[in-house]
Amino acid sequence: MAGRLAVIGAGLMGSGIAQVAAQAGWTVTLRDLEQQTVDRGIRGIRTSLDRFVRKEKISEEDAAAAVARITGTTELDAAADADLVVEAVFERLDAKQDVFRALDRICGPDAVLATNTSAIPVTQIAAATGRPESVVGTHFFSPVPMMALCELVRGFKTSDATLATARAFAEGIGKTCIVVNRDIAGFVTTRLISALVVEAVRLVESGVVTPEDLDTACKLGFGHAMGPLATTDLTGVDVLLHATRNIYTDTADAKFFPPELLQRMAAAGDLGRKSGQGFYSY
Ligand SMILES: NC(=O)c1ccc[n+]([C@@H]2O[C@H](COP(=O)([O-])OP(=O)(O)OC[C@H]3O[C@@H](n4cnc5c(N)ncnc54)[C@H](O)[C@@H]3O)[C@@H](O)[C@H]2O)c1
Repeated sequence: MAGRLAVIGAGLMGSGIAQVAAQAGWTVTLRDLEQQTVDRGIRGIRTSLDRFVRKEKISEEDAAAAVARITGTTELDAAADADLVVEAVFERLDAKQDVFRALDRICGPDAVLATNTSAIPVTQIAAATGRPESVVGTHFFSPVPMMALCELVRGFKTSDATLATARAFAEGIGKTCIVVNRDIAGFVTTRLISALVVEAVRLVESGVVTPEDLDTACKLGFGHAMGPLATTDLTGVDVLLHATRNIYTDTADAKFFPPELLQRMAAAGDLGRKSGQGFYSY
């Protein structure tokens, strides 16, 4: 299965999804708000593909063919003929609802509309459209070209056919899917990582343990490939804060209340790797 894919948002996740889909033969339209952001996304894709070529994982021809299948744009209307749209804009309900409201107007009646949200209930995003049965969560992981998991999320009204299309897409681009049957905030994976990160940050901010030792405990004690604080730096302190806030808003469960340190870091611009400073310096 390969067809026409539109990816909305050319940031870390959107460009990664565009890349793996193009490698699997999809014709991809990659949309962001500013041309320079689109260009940066496509540059990132080239850099990633070059790395795979250097490691002899793919040929130069295949890399060039994948880039040639991607068209960058600032026009949302370019999504009009897509079979599948994957939204990967900021993790804010209002931003995502705006995009889905517009997609509902623009896209053909058979298009499947997917969101890469990490924590916002798909049902709330789908409610911005007149076709909630066609809306589904496809939660990919960062970096998309390396991470094998896709968490498929059923919204309250997602149809079986929509879920099947999303599964065929994700498996077709090389991912293994798990299905989240009930549309809870944070789904399965973000619930788990948020609970771990919140507790990790509380332990660090109360002086119980250093970030280095906490991450070492998770790596050597639990066999995690990466500690939760290094993971937060990679994902983005702001992204984790938003995700945790959304889960807390939905559940009113105090264990998800964002710790003060996480809030202050985000306010100060210590966002992790992307800003050069998070729990670690880069
Ligand atoms: N970063 C991660 O590790 C990760 C993992 C899984 C899921 N997610 C989710 O994926 C989504 C995107 O995350 P990201 O890390 O790629 O964020 P990012 O900040 O790197 O990229 C978001 C992009 O969306 C663009 N954007 C905003 N509004 C737009 C619109 N209306 N149309 C087109 N583009 C628009 C922004 O300009 C930006 O380039 C979020 O929902 C996030 O929660 C992130």
